[in-house]
Amino acid sequence: MSSTVVQSSDSQSPDPMSQFSLSPATHPLCGTLRVPADKSITHRALMLAPLIHGESRIENYLDSETTRATLNCMRALGADIEAIDAHTLRVHGRGLHSLLEPRDVLYCLGSGTTIRLLAGLCAGQHFLSVLDGTPALKRRPMGRIVEPLKQMGATILARDNDRFPPLVFRGGNLRGIEYALPIASAQVKSAILFAALFADSPTTIHEPAPSRDHTERMLRALGVNVANLSTTTICLDPKSKIENRNSKFPIPSDISSAAFFIVAALLVKNSQLVLENVGLNPGRTGLLDALTRMGAEFEIENTREENGEPLGDIIVSSADLRATTIGGAEIPRLIDELPILAIAATQAEGATLVRDAAELRVKESDRIATLAQELRKLGAQIEEHEDGFTIQGPTPLRGARVDAHNDHRLALSLAVAALIAEGETQIDGWECVADSFPNFAELLGVVSC
Ligand code: S3P
Repeated sequence: MSSTVVQSSDSQSPDPMSQFSLSPATHPLCGTLRVPADKSITHRALMLAPLIHGESRIENYLDSETTRATLNCMRALGADIEAIDAHTLRVHGRGLHSLLEPRDVLYCLGSGTTIRLLAGLCAGQHFLSVLDGTPALKRRPMGRIVEPLKQMGATILARDNDRFPPLVFRGGNLRGIEYALPIASAQVKSAILFAALFADSPTTIHEPAPSRDHTERMLRALGVNVANLSTTTICLDPKSKIENRNSKFPIPSDISSAAFFIVAALLVKNSQLVLENVGLNPGRTGLLDALTRMGAEFEIENTREENGEPLGDIIVSSADLRATTIGGAEIPRLIDELPILAIAATQAEGATLVRDAAELRVKESDRIATLAQELRKLGAQIEEHEDGFTIQGPTPLRGARVDAHNDHRLALSLAVAALIAEGETQIDGWECVADSFPNFAELLGVVSC
């Protein structure tokens, strides 16, 4: 590990991971690295593989706090999932109708993807299931999935007028629906698609703007008919059985995790990084488009497709950045990258405006409020809006004691800011990076030349 990165424990805290101290980078970042596997695709593979008739392998999956929550819930629903090694799972699929009534509450930890996608599966089952999670998860809105799943015929109860976890399901006997999503959300779309697998007729979903389509791609690779009627309308035709097609679920690296090293390489002078094997689903590459407008240049090499998902290697070098405006249909394509884009914006010439991003307020933290609060501690000029923020740059950042607010993407963004700040930065609550990027500190040490 480079001398720029110091991992320390907070003497006041019993958890040795709870505080992470970073010094500014004194050397460029260079080399080739592979960030962890895609979180969204891992969740979906864990939920769909057990529904196939026959054995399949999930290769290079993300082993993190949130994906382990999904794995445990699927096992509690009767799925037979066996670890072969640290990166590979063997799943003995028993078919679409093989899930069993869980004996306990399905504990989704703090994972919105786990609870919302599992809700779709549970809606299709005749048995009783209860989904719940951490206090933070209990604050995440669930009306958005409860409403369409009820329309399909599931019986669902939830706290506070059916709006928040815990969720109680008595599902089964579903009918296909035509549903217009009020917000572009891949989690809601996927919950409906999962339930639609168990319905007696086709389901059509309209989105206000395209969101990530990993579920559609994975279902198609398994032979389920999911037709694109337009860029924002899909229709799923239910099947009685998903046949094993020698199924493999290879998982690319997560562009949302690559994002932290992309912005770090842009900001730390004279850096060049090669990020290998990164998923390049067009529903996820808004960050690259926004940064290109800001003056970044990317080379994409070795592009290919695996299991219906595009991927490739991203080469990125330091650049002088200028401000941009981000809004509208671009938002769902970079929603998880807005915290790290905010760090880039602090170093860009001019005022970067993010709008139409009110969804940021209902993520792992209220990301508009927490970003503004923590970036100000580092000296950034950020103005909060109801649906986004404006950042004036370039501003020299100074190290400070900041808080991760139990939000992995905020913690990781603050770590990148620390690399270009003057003096040391301490990040409290660092352990939340285990949700998506457990080995960030280790990789940062490897690429510090
Ligand atoms: C996800 C969809 C997005 C994203 C989340 C993962 C998914 O959420 O923010 O981190 O895997 O489908 P929304 O669907 O709420 O936009």
